[in-house]
Amino acid sequence: MSGFSIDWLDLREAADRRARDNSLRAQAMQWLAGDETPVAVDLGAGTGSTLRALTASNPQALIWRLVDNDTALLDEAVRRHGETHRIEPCKADLSALASLPLQGARLVTASALFDLVSEHFLATLAAELKDQNQQHSIGLYAALNYDGTTQWTPQHPLDNTVLAAFNQDQRTDKGFGPALGPDSGAVLQRLFTEAGFRVYLASSPWTLDGADQAMVAELITGIASAVADHPDIHPSTLEDWVQFRQSNAASGTCVVGHTDVLALPG
Ligand SMILES: C[S@@+](CC[C@H](N)C(=O)[O-])C[C@H]1O[C@@H](n2cnc3c(N)ncnc32)[C@H](O)[C@@H]1O
Repeated sequence: MSGFSIDWLDLREAADRRARDNSLRAQAMQWLAGDETPVAVDLGAGTGSTLRALTASNPQALIWRLVDNDTALLDEAVRRHGETHRIEPCKADLSALASLPLQGARLVTASALFDLVSEHFLATLAAELKDQNQQHSIGLYAALNYDGTTQWTPQHPLDNTVLAAFNQDQRTDKGFGPALGPDSGAVLQRLFTEAGFRVYLASSPWTLDGADQAMVAELITGIASAVADHPDIHPSTLEDWVQFRQSNAASGTCVVGHTDVLALPG
């Protein structure tokens, strides 16, 4: 198990969908259409949110290789889309990058994944895709990389301290070595540019309000749990912050910054 529940992925999907930059999404779909039977390899696919976001007019023309190490999530993706789409589920640990099924792919996709990985992982992926390009043109569409910013209304005196502690936690090892966290967008841009790709970046923030109350409530709980052991934050102050945030979840707003990245062969 990876610790990403179907419930949490479902809860965030509408906000993810609104946040994705439409222009990069359209460019990614246009790139896919360049092959007759294109193969998309979705890394950390979860239940298939990227497949849903890149809805094709003719889903049978596109093959989705969904890669994840969580069988429950992959099974759910197949249950939801197995009859309408051409899906090749692939249970694999992404950290074994060299053995991933990238052969013949037109596009590697990922969403909400690369802030979990290390710079070494992305450098290896960039080198691998550069290599694959010798045989077959392949691009990368990486959406929703957390950028380290979060703005709440109404504000609370502890917001900045909590954010700094949360961003520190985002850089700890999530199974791939020290995680890039807020740096993932910039590092993707640098590494893929160095590998000879044309790289496009766009901002894709979550913009949350009372309509997203259930998601915001989970977000607050998740942030509080990530910073609970931080030496700069006293448990009772954190409890005040959580209570204030939860009591304003229905009427306040929250903007969480992300970056979408599209890298196409130069
Ligand atoms: C934040 S979720 C995003 C899921 C999906 N892309 C979405 O946007 O809804 C991260 C995904 O990466 C997968 N994952 C995390 N570490 C992994 C690893 N080492 N190998 C394979 N999959 C992994 C998780 O199981 C989860 O599905």
